[in-house]
Amino acid sequence: MAVQYRFKEDFWWGAATSGPQSEGRFHKAHRSVFDYWYDTEPEAFFQGVGPNTASNFYNDYKQDIAKMKEIGLNSVRTSIQWTRLMKDFEEGTTDEDGVRFYNAVIDEFLRQGIRPIINLHHFDLPVELYQKYGGWESKKVVDLFVLFAQKCFELFGDRVKDWVTFNEPMVVVEGEYLYQFHYPKLVDGRKACQVLYNLNLASAKAIRAFHESRCAAEGGRIGIVLNLTPAYPRSEDSADRAAAAFAEDFKNNSFLYPAVKGFFPETIVETLRQDGVLWSSTPEELKIIAENTIDFLGVNYYQPFRAKAKEEPFDESHGWLPEKHFDVYEMPGRRMNPYRGWEIYPKAIYDIAINVRDNLGNIPWYISENGMGVEGEEKYRNAQGYIEDDYRIDFFKEHLSWLHKGIEEGSNCFGFHAWTPIDCWSWMNAYKNRYGFIALDLATQEKTIKKSGYWIREVARNHGF
Ligand code: BG6
Repeated sequence: MAVQYRFKEDFWWGAATSGPQSEGRFHKAHRSVFDYWYDTEPEAFFQGVGPNTASNFYNDYKQDIAKMKEIGLNSVRTSIQWTRLMKDFEEGTTDEDGVRFYNAVIDEFLRQGIRPIINLHHFDLPVELYQKYGGWESKKVVDLFVLFAQKCFELFGDRVKDWVTFNEPMVVVEGEYLYQFHYPKLVDGRKACQVLYNLNLASAKAIRAFHESRCAAEGGRIGIVLNLTPAYPRSEDSADRAAAAFAEDFKNNSFLYPAVKGFFPETIVETLRQDGVLWSSTPEELKIIAENTIDFLGVNYYQPFRAKAKEEPFDESHGWLPEKHFDVYEMPGRRMNPYRGWEIYPKAIYDIAINVRDNLGNIPWYISENGMGVEGEEKYRNAQGYIEDDYRIDFFKEHLSWLHKGIEEGSNCFGFHAWTPIDCWSWMNAYKNRYGFIALDLATQEKTIKKSGYWIREVARNHGF
């Protein structure tokens, strides 16, 4: 096969999932905020489906990993659930079955020749820590997270070489404290900003613990996974550009800068101070953030963000929101994924690549999630019994061709992971939008490879397409 877009031989071709979205709640001693939310308000979830059985990875991990191998993935990210691994969050004791399960999963990945990338937090805060301390609003929880992280490094660091502190911490800020799509569904700008700071601090403290552990000495690396939504202005007009610049700094750089450069964007600190919502910090904490930056970056890219200057003055009566400084711009004619309501703009992946090269010290990075969620895919199942998801293949090809251009121009990108290997449960959207290379039949739990799964196998085999 002629390969037009060739990637280097050791490029990561893989996919990402998470513990709470794939395992199911079997044998879990504690509840996460999502487990709790589902138990108390199941109707909040699409078709009332919660995290209880997910895609059954807890029981099916061997078959599932074999399928990931069958479609040629050389690396897979998943997460360890805080609520599964720990017996007592404060004493730092672990649950026997949790340790057994994650050991078995990691060993199985390695046995199949798949590199496991292990994430420590994918929105799954233990609800007890929210009820007792206010969750990420509290610096006590920051330290309990580090205790959990240390346990993970001790238990699995002999085999896991690539670690991630947080998946999409900005979604915690936005979902829990600004826009009400994650429990506890608050609208509280001041708390949102404290949580933003505390998550950065938690990541830096976990990175410090990692670098002090033997994992780092034995060649391990640690990073963070950020959902980047490059912010584009409506026009070149200075007010539109200023609006987009604020959105870029708040949504992207307020995690990217601390993680990579060790400090927060000055404009954000100044604006939040003027707005009266700046977080509380200490010089010691800022020193920890400055000294403990990431070894590699994961970028989840799904959609861009478009901003315009405010047309009406911001209404302060409901409290502070980042929208005090920009309006969302719905660009006429933009290409949309009609199921998810997200804009499709593949070129942003190139813009991210060049931004990493020019403004972030060309740190090693990879696409840790990219994908197209589609509703009702069963209608594309063909006579041979597999789903013909050509739209997904085209989506990946477009994004990969822009990524390829960025790499050709010197960006230090080492891999591409899709969301997700096997259709999985997804928070409030449950099973509405399917993303997998492998389809899940919810009724029978049967898992069948889609056309895109056979396609990615060829891409991995040929080092390109
Ligand atoms: C990513 C998250 O942002 O989006 C995943 O890391 C999530 O956890 C995925 O499942 C898809 O989200 P949705 O809402 O389209 O199902």
